[in-house]
Amino acid sequence: MGEEPKGRIEKNDKSEAVIMEQKGVNRRTFLSALGAAGVLGAVRSAANAGGNRLYAQENDAPASPFEGAAASYPVLQNPGPRGMSVSWAVRPEEGKLATGWVEWGLTEALGETSRGAEFGLNQLSSTFLSARIRGLQPGTTYYYRTATCQVLFENAYHITTEEPVYSPVYSFKTASRNAGSEKFAVINDTHEAQPTLKALMGRIAEVDPEQVIWNGDLLNSFVEPKQAVDSIYCPQYGAFAANRPLLFNNGNHDHRGIWARKKSDALLPWRHKGIFGDLGRNFVLRNGPVALIGLDTGEDKPDANPVFSGLANFEPYRERQAAWLSQTLKTKQVRSAPFIIVICHIPLFDSRPDANPGDIMVDFAAWQRPMARMCDPFMEDAGVQLVIAAHEHAFRYDPATGNRCWAQVVGGGPELEQNTTIMVGEATAEKLTLRVEKVADGTTLGEWDFAPRKV
Ligand SMILES: [Fe+2]
Repeated sequence: MGEEPKGRIEKNDKSEAVIMEQKGVNRRTFLSALGAAGVLGAVRSAANAGGNRLYAQENDAPASPFEGAAASYPVLQNPGPRGMSVSWAVRPEEGKLATGWVEWGLTEALGETSRGAEFGLNQLSSTFLSARIRGLQPGTTYYYRTATCQVLFENAYHITTEEPVYSPVYSFKTASRNAGSEKFAVINDTHEAQPTLKALMGRIAEVDPEQVIWNGDLLNSFVEPKQAVDSIYCPQYGAFAANRPLLFNNGNHDHRGIWARKKSDALLPWRHKGIFGDLGRNFVLRNGPVALIGLDTGEDKPDANPVFSGLANFEPYRERQAAWLSQTLKTKQVRSAPFIIVICHIPLFDSRPDANPGDIMVDFAAWQRPMARMCDPFMEDAGVQLVIAAHEHAFRYDPATGNRCWAQVVGGGPELEQNTTIMVGEATAEKLTLRVEKVADGTTLGEWDFAPRKV
């Protein structure tokens, strides 16, 4: 490392977790040495204690690598060839709030600053902070760290801001269509199952993908921001998305609960230009030979289902996304990609005649027929090769047919010994390989090669 952080995290004060993170020590080894039960016990005791703190006091939380108001490792989000967002959880003291910024640059000396200001105001929060880094070059490595300050806001003329506390310096590489290869990992349907999350975080560290796509059902119902910390930022299992971006994709459960309407504080929306500015959960990322496209399939029942009590509005939302998809598939970054992969939570196909298609008033969807009907014509025109889906808590592979140009792989689930998977895609311009692994024992459930599109 070059210049030492100037904040309160001095080299000798860094926790073992931070030092190990920087040295690349195997996280599974570290966690087993630490004793995951102790970490989870501390988190539970904080939850039981109530109050506005997201985590237990230092005495209760062994080996916490966080100082001051910071409460998580940074999480990179919304990657692009020229931009990257950084978010992190905060835990200000009772009666205080937190503000912060990101320092970044081409070397560890950093030198640039980005803040998450909106309409002239810097962020002030008790839960999450974020900043968008803009003006980056494609395919380039950047270094960054977060700065977090506690703020005592008594009134407009009495505001006390404390000294910043800095994270360690991390790095990331921006996407580039000229990259020679791409490697991504998909996880899903974790449903707040902590043993499952721990195993997945360990496996992500070993696989070391360029992006992690979390394909929905992070939790059962969004009730409070603390769930986002424990299940998405996952500070108890290390910095899984500090050196690579997280691409979050909504599952049906992620739409549930009052706090689902506030989750953009933790899971930053994508900013689409022009007429699609009303959207923000569907995404496109081109890196090397692969165009990754995320679609939000919404809830698993029709909007008119009485269970929603009139609060669901997914049908027009899916129509808007289909319109966005039709335009996105025609953009140069996508149509020039040798491989186009669509990622969505609820499958877009099911061969079983009795599978619930999501547009009937009984039970819940096994697949999303309305979305498939709207999107498939565009996907056929573009020659999409693969759909990656979730939701079913069971692995299956639906090969492409004469009538459908894309194959579909479905997998993942919260029961570690039964159905938890990690899907890893690796591509060069000549070949895309997707491997689905059962995380509990590392066995390969399926592996397929895909030929490039004609571009
Ligand atoms: Fe689901």
